[in-house]
Amino acid sequence: MSAILSPPWTDTLCVQPELSFRAFNENDVAAVAAIEAEVYLFPWSAGNFFDSLLSGYRCMGAWAADELVSYAVVMTAIDEAHLLNLAVASKWQRHGIGAAMLTNVIDEMRRQPLEMIYLEVRPTNLAGLRLYESFGFNQLGVRRDYYPALTGREDALFLGFNIAPRTI
Ligand SMILES: CC(C)(COP(=O)(O)OP(=O)(O)OC[C@H]1O[C@@H](n2cnc3c(N)ncnc32)[C@H](O)[C@@H]1OP(=O)(O)O)[C@@H](O)C(=O)NCCC(=O)NCCS
Repeated sequence: MSAILSPPWTDTLCVQPELSFRAFNENDVAAVAAIEAEVYLFPWSAGNFFDSLLSGYRCMGAWAADELVSYAVVMTAIDEAHLLNLAVASKWQRHGIGAAMLTNVIDEMRRQPLEMIYLEVRPTNLAGLRLYESFGFNQLGVRRDYYPALTGREDALFLGFNIAPRTI
């Protein structure tokens, strides 16, 4: 993957670091789960990530130098993909990394005979919603009481994006 400037990177400049993408594996789960625990109020456990690997889900990571900065987990079935998780480490957010990871996910899904990518997002997750909307994801529905919340449950917005190669 591309990019951009050499260190030092600063928050004020908000430049995207040079990223390398590869599948994450069992040895990376501790680092993945550490990011997960810092960015979500209701995080997946390390066991959830091991289960994802065992289930054959596509587990992608992005590294800046040797530091894991982002990951995504995608389940594919027949002609569709479901983005189950995508996150960027707190200190690396707003540097274009989430967009770079989502681009990587979509590019990889486009290399397979898939038509749609789906995901759920909390209506209160402004950063996630804006990211997905900026890529052209559309709201397809609402899943009632989908997520745990501090009081009761929270709905999920169900979004979809057509990833089929465009023909003119
Ligand atoms: C959502 C998340 C992945 C975005 O990653 P990021 O690297 O910070 O995002 P980027 O810097 O690539 O920003 C891409 C676009 O997303 C939107 N965005 C990202 N963070 C935002 C924020 N805090 N507020 C509003 N919009 C935001 C913007 O449209 C932004 O484009 P812009 O910079 O041109 O305005 C990150 O905030 C995160 O990991 N959050 C916790 C986990 C999570 O909620 N994942 C999504 C679950 S469905």
